[in-house]
Amino acid sequence: MKLDVLLGLQWGDEGKGKIVDVLTPKYDIIARFQGGPNAGHTLEFEGIKHVLHTIPSGIFRDGVMNLVGNGVVIDPVIFQAELDKLEPFNIDYKARLVISKKAHLILPSHRLLDAASEASKGKDKIGSTLKGIGPTYMDKTGRNGLRVGDIYSPNFKAKYNALVEKHKSMLERYPDFKYDLSETEGAWMDSIERLRELTAVDSEHYINEAIKAGKSILAEGAQGTMLDIDFGTYPFVTSSNTVTAGTCTGLGVAPTRIGNVIGIFKAYCTRVGSGPFPTELEDAVGEKIRKEGFEFGATTGRPRRCGWVDIPALKYAIMINGASELSMMKADVLDNFESIRVCTHYMIDGERYDHFPYDVTDMEVTPVYEDIKGWNCDTTKLTSFDDAPVELKSYVSYLEQKLEVPITIVSVGPDRTQTLDNKH
Ligand code: GDP
Ligand code: IMO
Ligand code: MG
Repeated sequence: MKLDVLLGLQWGDEGKGKIVDVLTPKYDIIARFQGGPNAGHTLEFEGIKHVLHTIPSGIFRDGVMNLVGNGVVIDPVIFQAELDKLEPFNIDYKARLVISKKAHLILPSHRLLDAASEASKGKDKIGSTLKGIGPTYMDKTGRNGLRVGDIYSPNFKAKYNALVEKHKSMLERYPDFKYDLSETEGAWMDSIERLRELTAVDSEHYINEAIKAGKSILAEGAQGTMLDIDFGTYPFVTSSNTVTAGTCTGLGVAPTRIGNVIGIFKAYCTRVGSGPFPTELEDAVGEKIRKEGFEFGATTGRPRRCGWVDIPALKYAIMINGASELSMMKADVLDNFESIRVCTHYMIDGERYDHFPYDVTDMEVTPVYEDIKGWNCDTTKLTSFDDAPVELKSYVSYLEQKLEVPITIVSVGPDRTQTLDNKH
């Protein structure tokens, strides 16, 4: 059996949580492979909205295991708060959830370093979620990090103290940054106690044995391809590999074990935080998309920047990920538009660009658009793609032709049920 992957093709918040939840009944295991509490994955069913940050989006379905892989960074305080939120729904998370011993821990001092670094950058800040993601991955690659497996060691406290001392000396670089670690350390240590109650596993063995036993597995990405540390709009990116290759290192599965790769994108485009966004609309149209799409961050509540779909960026993401099928999300947000625009290529210094340029951060990029007729009717009550308005069907076919990958799911609302199969 091969492992399937679902991941974002844009700048995150494409609707990964919703589609993982929709697809979960087809799988035995849902596994997160990177990112951490910077993610906010929303699921909606039976009139209730749930937002997950670290826990995989398969947690609400009976009989499915959820794995937090070695590539994930865990803030035990946020993790605990997420688990507590599951209590009213009688979810036996201790039986449904396992964590990799090799996943790294986010310390309170990592969060301080994130905040101090961002504050010092002023207008050039990344727009980080300030969850300590960058500093934690820096300690991982710098070979100083603390891992889940360390919490069982008698030396855990000593290792913790050594790392915090290092962080305190790093914080001296920011004399204007005032902090009081004692406020957060107690709660962090308490949450470590509760983390010990969960099952920590050698996740690379866990996942490979599951593959061997014929179990079906879906790897759930966080963030999006354009936020990838290598292939995103650097330096305005996150600190992990958000792409298909990240599944191999973040779970310990070989490339030969990867099956279907489902790339997910919005019928338009959003970005939260700083950095280039060629098709951004800083006008009434962008405002209308934000309002109709309720485009506010699931983790930070910040308004998301909105714009039109960007074909060169999507094609780039499809190439890097080897996407074999696509899900188009939030089609309903465009229900009240006479006309929809699609960026087909860019003009830079009078020259045509069909690909995403290296220097996009410093360049004056002019997107060139094609106008597509809108469907201008309510799609939220559709139960079959066959009944979709002809203009929506044409929009989907147009994008399939440009992107050269089938769009197998079209989403028309946040609820589990508002999901249409586009059978080919
Ligand atoms: P993720 O990070 O990729 O899981 O996405 P988020 O949860 O951060 O953001 C997606 C938002 O759009 C959430 O509020 C979802 O409930 C919502 N959503 C998902 N699919 C649809 C859709 O098809 N239509 C509408 N209107 N909202 C959707
Ligand atoms: P999900 O999984 C959207 C963005 C931040 C910032 C940059 C770096 O919900 O799609 P970081 O906290 O990683 O240091 O922030 O990345 N970012 C996201 N944007 N969705 C996310 O996750 C994001 N996680 C991080 O806004 O621009
Ligand atoms: Mg999100």
